[in-house]
Amino acid sequence: MRRILIATVCLTFIPGSHVVAAPATREIEARHGVVVSDSASASEAGVRILKKGGNAVDAAVATAFALAVTLPQAGNIGGGGFMMVAPGGGAAPVCIDYRETAPAVSTRDMFVTRKSHLGHKIVGVPGTVRGLGLAHQRYGKLSWKKLLQPAIRLATEGFVLNGDLARSLNGVLANSREFVELQRVFAKPDNSAWHAGDRLVQPDLAKTLNRLAEQGPDAFYHGTIAKQIVAEMKAGGGLISPNDLARYRAIVREPIRGTYRGYLILGPPPPSSGGICLVEMLNILENFDLRKQGRCSPQTLHLMIEAMRRVYCDRARHLGDTDFVSIPEHLTSKPYARKLAGQIDKKRATRSETLAPEITLAHEGPNTTHFSVIDSAGMAVSNTYTLEQSYGSRVVVRGAGFLLNNEMGDFNWRPGHTDRRGAIGTDPNTIAPGKRMLSSQTPVIVTRGGKPVLVTGSPGGRTIINTVLCVIVNVLEFDMPLRAATEAPRLHHQWFPDKAWFEGADRSNYGSSVATLRRMGHVVERSGKQGTANSIMIVDGIYVGVSDPRRSGVAAGY
Ligand code: DON
Repeated sequence: MRRILIATVCLTFIPGSHVVAAPATREIEARHGVVVSDSASASEAGVRILKKGGNAVDAAVATAFALAVTLPQAGNIGGGGFMMVAPGGGAAPVCIDYRETAPAVSTRDMFVTRKSHLGHKIVGVPGTVRGLGLAHQRYGKLSWKKLLQPAIRLATEGFVLNGDLARSLNGVLANSREFVELQRVFAKPDNSAWHAGDRLVQPDLAKTLNRLAEQGPDAFYHGTIAKQIVAEMKAGGGLISPNDLARYRAIVREPIRGTYRGYLILGPPPPSSGGICLVEMLNILENFDLRKQGRCSPQTLHLMIEAMRRVYCDRARHLGDTDFVSIPEHLTSKPYARKLAGQIDKKRATRSETLAPEITLAHEGPNTTHFSVIDSAGMAVSNTYTLEQSYGSRVVVRGAGFLLNNEMGDFNWRPGHTDRRGAIGTDPNTIAPGKRMLSSQTPVIVTRGGKPVLVTGSPGGRTIINTVLCVIVNVLEFDMPLRAATEAPRLHHQWFPDKAWFEGADRSNYGSSVATLRRMGHVVERSGKQGTANSIMIVDGIYVGVSDPRRSGVAAGY
């Protein structure tokens, strides 16, 4: 494998008002530990924990809390997600499911006539703090309190905004005038526009994080913070009750397992659709010799689109929270994939209507964040978490300084309703009290011989699974180095609308392939950036971390 070490050393702000050079880059090679996240301060927080003797889970917890400060649009304590842990040393890998749940008073049809996905009613019971607490309780080495210190410092002393975050804050402030607490917490003190280099200080959030550090995760679900959340719900007509918070549990689940060309693929189980869909797509693709055809040939792209189309159809048909629906086991089996592969016409696009004409798409938003961690003992963590849309519901808990998710929008919120551009109305993912909404989050760990070889994942709503598929196929099938595999243009098909979206379809990336695909009957459209895969690859014992250039993340390590 080609190894390129980019020698860029970022000038990075460390709280304490001095600027120092830190070994943080787009790509890093290291021997002891690596953290790749969407924020330089968060990656560095994770690496500092590793250097202090923490393991990958300790570093992941510290990184997640730091992201809740430095990436307010997606990093969170008011949302939820999935953490894959491969502990190493022969211990079984697990998925920690900390997906949000529907409040007890929610009903199947509560959003049928709803136009906006913002505000108090769309908030699911947050899982992040329980999830991080459970991960720490099971695997952590350092004290919980220590893991919160970097986040507390970043909130108390502030951190310097980069251009992306300054623009993002200006955007949300301009579009969310009615969310008074959001304005109070995130507006620049003199109410002018944010610029790169400005410092964001979050005293309320610092107070909340201090409470969590002192009192543990219970403070969020029973204590002061729970009271603040419930008061916010009451004030804004939200649904979350003290009981919803007290009853919330993060769950240790068995990962979905698949194989591809001798590698073991470990992905998140329901309520994420990510693991099942990824394994089903890889199983289909394994039936073809993609390598011989070439990565950007019309044949390979056609087969990828056709695999995606079929699997997203199965996603809509079958997937939801397994406490409420049973999911057929054959979805991840090799014989089923062979059958689906056999149904692909090699020369013509299948029309999505012919697979199951009654179902189309649900609403999903533009923000989530993924980070990957590995430590010196080879313990790996792959974590995706989210507020659903950028800045979630836009509701900031009064006096507590953090945003709440709008994850209820991930349910099929118009049961039975199908239109070609709109919501999926299938039963498995309709709303019910206590139910977890279906997710596309796909934090993945690929192993061989019991050792991790690739840790990856991405934001991007329903495109997530296909982004992860593209990275995995690039690495495992086409032997691309991680950086090239990450930078390569991606594609997405999600059954309905019946279109393939290509990053850069109008550039020369695919040569004449796009024209050929159109002749085969595909509708190909150009998309914007697809996903942000912050990944780690392990090559001959060396950790190669790559942050996806589609956002301003950083790979840090030592
Ligand atoms: O869990 C899910 O699938 C979505 N709530 C994720 C949303 C998302 O990734 C938006 N991203 N950029």
